[in-house]
Amino acid sequence: MHPANPFPVDPDRLLAIAQKWGTPTYVYLENIIREQCRKLTGLFKNIPVSWLYAVKANDNPHIISIIADEGLGFDTVSYEEVLLCRKLGTDPDNIFYTENNMTDAEMNGAAKEGVILNIGSLDRLKSYCETWPGSSCSIRIKPDVGDGHHAKVDTGNQDSKFGIRMDLLKEAVALVDSHNVTIRGIHAHIGSGIQEPENLLYEINVLLEASQYFNSLEFINFGGGIPIPYRPDDDAFNLERFAGLASDRLQKYLDETDQKVRFYFEPGRWIVGSAGMLLTQVNTVKDQGRKTYLGTDTGFNHLIRPALYDAYHEIVNISANKDAPLRTYDVAGNICESGDVLGKERSMPESRTGDYLAILDAGAYGMTMASHYNRRAMPAEVLITEQGFHKIIRKRKSPEQSVEEYLQDTGIVQSENN
Ligand SMILES: Cc1ncc(COP(=O)(O)O)c(C=O)c1O
Repeated sequence: MHPANPFPVDPDRLLAIAQKWGTPTYVYLENIIREQCRKLTGLFKNIPVSWLYAVKANDNPHIISIIADEGLGFDTVSYEEVLLCRKLGTDPDNIFYTENNMTDAEMNGAAKEGVILNIGSLDRLKSYCETWPGSSCSIRIKPDVGDGHHAKVDTGNQDSKFGIRMDLLKEAVALVDSHNVTIRGIHAHIGSGIQEPENLLYEINVLLEASQYFNSLEFINFGGGIPIPYRPDDDAFNLERFAGLASDRLQKYLDETDQKVRFYFEPGRWIVGSAGMLLTQVNTVKDQGRKTYLGTDTGFNHLIRPALYDAYHEIVNISANKDAPLRTYDVAGNICESGDVLGKERSMPESRTGDYLAILDAGAYGMTMASHYNRRAMPAEVLITEQGFHKIIRKRKSPEQSVEEYLQDTGIVQSENN
């Protein structure tokens, strides 16, 4: 367990939740989500910095509402996320929609909602200008610097699909000018789980320099990507040091320019990652000769990070006798693929069928990336509130309900209401 992420809650509490609500279940801690938000909002003292939460990390409406209550706005990456935030009562000025191969219908829907459209290609900028002349938008720039915990989430490198090339910015300005469209902001996002803070500082410089192409900028958005430590020996990101270095650069910029801009960052993982865990039950203990597997009732359909990114999540047996001798296990899921292993060579007290495991630091990119693969039902979600109560924030569907819903959605059987 990482010293920066001590075990976040009394394991007996988790055990009680697993026994009461069943597994697999994601559990989130409201107090950690709020603490993380407050650490961010307290960071930059004299610089106009605002924070957006990247909804893709965890879009449970209860979590979005907690974060809204802490005063953050939202970074959304789909029209559906825009609608979700709007339905939850967020003011459109506090919603940025960073599009990625958006359709006309999504563009027009989002523009009607009045949210800030952040456009990432000249092609889309052209259709936006033609459809919404006289309006305003933001543009996403490809900064040619990328970073991330895995190559799959490095979004700023030269070959990235995201953002408008720097050498096309003059063309972008000519395009918007010819349609009387104002670029009110510029944005870049170099990747998720940044390994080198210097890369983020470099990107900040790139955007500050790019701002010279525009004369009515209201904001510059530096994206998200602040990492959390997952492995016991991962270095924690030194947020204060980063904010100090960024402040110096931003202050210098404000001193030297006439632009009256606000700066944004849009982290997701850092806010919710360590606030969530996935509870699962061991249903099979299997000695395969060279390895012993703990087989569980979840898998990469519910937490894809280990299979997709070789990501590490700490796994704790919350029901084993603490004094039992340590054994080494691979923790496997119930999906019919050999890659469905949630943790390899983990030392744990001797574990048995019926034990409960907590897979830690699973609050970000856990449930939002979950699927029905192998036709399995989704996990439930439980929130432990600040007052210490726990409440279901997404109901579990039984296998029977889940299959019934699928049959109805596909139209092969008609619901009784149709
Ligand atoms: C445009 C954009 N902004 C922000 C984020 C949030 O990243 P993270 O959760 O690493 O802070 C992402 C995720 O990759 C993203 O695509």
